Amino acid sequence: MKIALLAKKGGVGKSTVSLLLWMALRQAGRDAVLLDWDAQGTSTKALELLGGQNAKQGSPTLYDTPPNLEHAATGTAVRSADLCLIVTTPSLADIWEAADAVQFVESRNPGSARVVFNKVRKGTVLGKLLDESARLIPAPALGVNLSERECYKHAIAQGWKSLDGSAREEALELALAVLSLGSLKQK
Ligand SMILES: Nc1ncnc2c1ncn2[C@@H]1O[C@H](COP(=O)(O)OP(=O)(O)OP(=O)(O)O)[C@@H](O)[C@H]1O
Ligand SMILES: [Mg+2]
Repeated sequence: MKIALLAKKGGVGKSTVSLLLWMALRQAGRDAVLLDWDAQGTSTKALELLGGQNAKQGSPTLYDTPPNLEHAATGTAVRSADLCLIVTTPSLADIWEAADAVQFVESRNPGSARVVFNKVRKGTVLGKLLDESARLIPAPALGVNLSERECYKHAIAQGWKSLDGSAREEALELALAVLSLGSLKQK
């Protein structure tokens, strides 16, 4: 299974979500490969700190992409993926960009797009409006969103051990939601 994580915008959390998903898949007993297609190299640097990766062939493969739909790497990742996870946040500015990312995916790999909200803060106005916000994006939600958590910032350098119990649970739910989709291309 190949999973592209993308957004039209920078800073929404593509690299953080890629790394959390990579860690959670490994915790769930699935080897996973994370390929960094962004020249910024956030995932590459994090993987170095986390001790690298040594996955079996055929393991789920994640593509962390540049914050730019025009970049050739983003298009290649989308075309070769079974699942395209569009990462956004509850902020309206990010939601508008996510709608553009859906169109981008639909024209290259129809049916493969799922939306993940990152940096969700329950109890805030935007957190409460999440379901309404999701309706502004013309693709199905993955069904699992990630909260804004200080420990997620630590996890990209310190790994799974820096996550508290509820963060681990959330990251594992994300991994299970992805695995349960299987290969959308074959459906
Ligand atoms: N769920 C979260 N909780 C707290 N902080 C987060 C979360 N997700 C991302 N961040 C923080 O937001 C910032 C941007 O995250 P990240 O680098 O993952 O985004 P990105 O979309 O990959 O950015 P770029 O487009 O520049 O590659 C970082 O400081 C990161 O630690
Ligand atoms: Mg990044």
